[in-house]
Amino acid sequence: MSFGRMPIANGFLTPETFATEFFFELRVGHCEACSMVQLTDLVDPHMLFHGDYAYFSSISTRMTAHFRRYAEAVMTGSLGSDPLVVEIGSNDGILLGNFARAGMRHVGIEPSANVARAATDQGIRSVCRFFDEETASDVRRSDGPAAVILGANVICHIPNIHAVLRGVDILLEERGAFIFEEPYLADIIEKTSYDQVYDEHVFYFSLTSLAPLVARYGMEIVDASPQNVHGGSMRYVVARRGAREPSPAVAVLAEHERLIGLGEPATYSALRDRIHQSRDSLTALLQDLRSAGKRVTAYGATSKSTTVTNFCGIGPDLIEFVSDTTPGKQGKFTPGVHIPVVPYEYFARAHPDYAVLFAWNHAEEIFEKEAAFARAGGRFIRYVPRVEIVE
Ligand code: SAH
Ligand code: TMP
Repeated sequence: MSFGRMPIANGFLTPETFATEFFFELRVGHCEACSMVQLTDLVDPHMLFHGDYAYFSSISTRMTAHFRRYAEAVMTGSLGSDPLVVEIGSNDGILLGNFARAGMRHVGIEPSANVARAATDQGIRSVCRFFDEETASDVRRSDGPAAVILGANVICHIPNIHAVLRGVDILLEERGAFIFEEPYLADIIEKTSYDQVYDEHVFYFSLTSLAPLVARYGMEIVDASPQNVHGGSMRYVVARRGAREPSPAVAVLAEHERLIGLGEPATYSALRDRIHQSRDSLTALLQDLRSAGKRVTAYGATSKSTTVTNFCGIGPDLIEFVSDTTPGKQGKFTPGVHIPVVPYEYFARAHPDYAVLFAWNHAEEIFEKEAAFARAGGRFIRYVPRVEIVE
């Protein structure tokens, strides 16, 4: 399906650059042959990941705790002596820092220079480049093979998935594990969270699509565990075929995906209908509130919200401002529809009537923090899994 003309999801901008803003066609398709769900028109990764990348992973305390547990789970696995831990897309070191602080050999592969620097500044070793087979060969030459190669919210970002798997094949120890967690397709379908679809998310993985893909490189999925972050993710453990005993969870998940129809075209046409309904209800609600003279704002200038605002046609006429805690986004305007992004203090100082929860994947953390907003009569508006005013 097409979401229409879309700007760069993380491309927050200043008024001087409005006229030259880049747009592309955001389209997603399901391949009936290999079951992959993916974007069909790609934006050059160099336009997305660079020295001014807007997303710093450590903005969320809940994610920091999540990645600490992820690291602990990896450390309790069989790593051998003096293991090398490699992370793809290590950003500001939110996951890899746990291994660095434990004194383990580690290296992060992170092409966005500004976030990589934030990691290096904390003593987390980061190499500023894209992960592919060349990078993998260089790391293997300088550091030896990796006991584990980790990733989170990054493998689905890399258009050349074959270069990633060839790189893993080059770098991984014989009995090593490639562990990564990414937004899970079944959650997107179940929650109609179409805002997961944006330029950086090239693939929408499931076991159904990943298992045959890794098999082409002599590997298999030996574990899969759901993660309650980013609106529903799946952590996959991949190993060389026969190197590790597959967990029973893998067969259970495969059967579940078959039952919910992940391989069936009808699943995707039904999803498309729900996405259109979601758009119509959200715009109708916001228009009604504005007509009633309510102050409507939004919470979290997320990359996901770029899809929502542009697909639904929600601009500054419906949302007065978006508040966000990331300094690099503040004072700028949201991509495409140009809603002002203001520091969080604006929101807290003069509570509006409504705030659209663009950071819905951090809802628990935000509801806890924003008790005062609710006490002042403020209400959050959600659109995942359905459009509603949160009571
Ligand atoms: N792992 C972090 C960051 C996710 S954002 C987390 O889960 O919070 C995706 C990150 O992947 C960005 O920092 C981006 O610069 C990086 N990235 C994009 N393409 C990459 C590639 N080919 N190799 C390594 N990292 C990449
Ligand atoms: P994400 O959905 O990609 O994790 O991005 C979260 C964005 O939301 C990020 O720009 C920071 C912002 N944010 C806030 O402004 N306040 C918060 O409490 C949280 C959790 C996130």
